[in-house]
Amino acid sequence: MHKSHIEPRQILITTALVYANGPIHLGHMLEHIQADIWARFQKMRGHQCLYICGNDAHGTPIMINAEKQGVTPETMIHRIHIEDQQDFADFWVNFDHFDMTHAPENQSLVNLVYQRLTAKGDITTRTIEQAYDPVKNMFLPDRYVKGECPFCGAKNQYGDNCEACGTTYAPTDLKNPISVLSGVAPIQKDSVHYFFHLEHYADALKHWGESGHLQPEVMNKLSEWFESGLRAWDISRDAPYFGFEIPDAPGKYFYVWLDAPIGYIACFEKLCQSRHDLTLEAYWGKESQTELYHFIGKDIIYFHALFWPAMLKGADFRLPSAIFTHGFLTVNGQKMSKSRGTFITAREYLNHLNPEYLRYYFAAKLNSHVEDIDLNFTDFMQRINADLVGKFVNIASRCAGFITKFFEGKLAAELENSLLFNTFFAQAETIAQLYETREYHQAMREIMLLADQANQYIDSMKPWVLAKSPDTLPAVQNICSLGLNLFRVLMIYLKPVLPKTAEAVEAFLNTPPLMWQDIENPLLGHQINPFQPLLQRIDLASIEIFTQTTNHVES
Ligand code: 2FM
Ligand code: ZN
Repeated sequence: MHKSHIEPRQILITTALVYANGPIHLGHMLEHIQADIWARFQKMRGHQCLYICGNDAHGTPIMINAEKQGVTPETMIHRIHIEDQQDFADFWVNFDHFDMTHAPENQSLVNLVYQRLTAKGDITTRTIEQAYDPVKNMFLPDRYVKGECPFCGAKNQYGDNCEACGTTYAPTDLKNPISVLSGVAPIQKDSVHYFFHLEHYADALKHWGESGHLQPEVMNKLSEWFESGLRAWDISRDAPYFGFEIPDAPGKYFYVWLDAPIGYIACFEKLCQSRHDLTLEAYWGKESQTELYHFIGKDIIYFHALFWPAMLKGADFRLPSAIFTHGFLTVNGQKMSKSRGTFITAREYLNHLNPEYLRYYFAAKLNSHVEDIDLNFTDFMQRINADLVGKFVNIASRCAGFITKFFEGKLAAELENSLLFNTFFAQAETIAQLYETREYHQAMREIMLLADQANQYIDSMKPWVLAKSPDTLPAVQNICSLGLNLFRVLMIYLKPVLPKTAEAVEAFLNTPPLMWQDIENPLLGHQINPFQPLLQRIDLASIEIFTQTTNHVES
């Protein structure tokens, strides 16, 4: 078999920084699992793939939430920072570094970006009128003003759009408005705001969008925005605000969405502090030759495909190689919504089910498009039981016992059917390509088709019959050794999705950590260890809590 040589790549990936404002939920896990699978795949192929993320720690909701809890924002974000890391670790999401935006490194970078944009003439100030709570003494973001819809009269509508008739409007249009914080009517008050002139970058953004590997549906969105014209972006907020103060502008703070993406760079800078083979310049400098990908949800395309590249360009950093956008997660067909409390937290899932089940289920559904994905728990149970337990693990459990019992744990010296093995090997590049292009659902399908073939082979060879007579017993070693070698190839293919099972299989097969290239070399005349059960079937009782109701209200 020929050795395929793959040039090592240098890749940096990020997932959207997670608001430190409550527990992470399965919607977050969709993105982090998607990215983690991709990073693990790249690492298995021998590439350098750094995966960084962190908490998004600033903004009004975090400030208000901490106040409600009677703690400082710092106390709250540090607590959530610890909890989030534990949740991610328990889902086997393997960050190279996880940080948070409330950090001195980030503040310095934010100031640097601001200085460079100012020097280019991209920042100007203008006075705007905004809703102000005279009791709380603060300006109110749109979501903090409620009132009657100016069009249909529906009560209790937010300041940005009406949920009853769907119209969008300004908070000043609401009838009988009140502040959500104090219940009093807001007054209108003037304030000086800082604006970033996004429209200065219209041509650069168009050029980048067209050459920069955006998914077609994202490119379409961008074209719409270009057509309706880019406008200056308000990057400042008034005190009280939890964030970074704007230099030489007392009482003015950077809007959270300015410092959040810069947090990607700051987070990488933190990683550099512990990794002397990495430099900020090599990954973020204008001339960077490395690859940079952001995994995000479709709700934040505007920030990542317009504001962010414009800021990077203006501040003389490199631009992303691509943005990988996914759709939303629905649960049992229903929208997950923080504000309505209809979401399942990561911890709640972990209390009942194996994280690898969810990793596999998401993989079996994810593709490269911006499509919503439904987690249907009945389908979930059937899929795990049929694919992972019934097809995949079954191969090993049917073969391992014979090798241990009759052959002292030793695999045959030759492949019983090298044609069949080659069929499995021949799929390596196809499956790799499917991981690379984030067509995980198709990769899982190909892998399960191979698992079917392995099971059919064992069915047709009937080792359990051959084991009964001394004449035919030697053939059992050959058949089961091939069975286990096919299983091993499938384990390599599934390792990005099932890292914990892969560790157990590496112990069972008595091998070092499996890499993609190991597919080429089957285990021959090799000593294995006794088989231990791998993944268990899911029974109805363990998913009941998630099928009876999807309204898991978290405090
Ligand atoms: O939408 C969100 O959940 C944000 N916290 C994502 C920020 S991503 C990046 F820009 F920091
Ligand atoms: Zn309305």
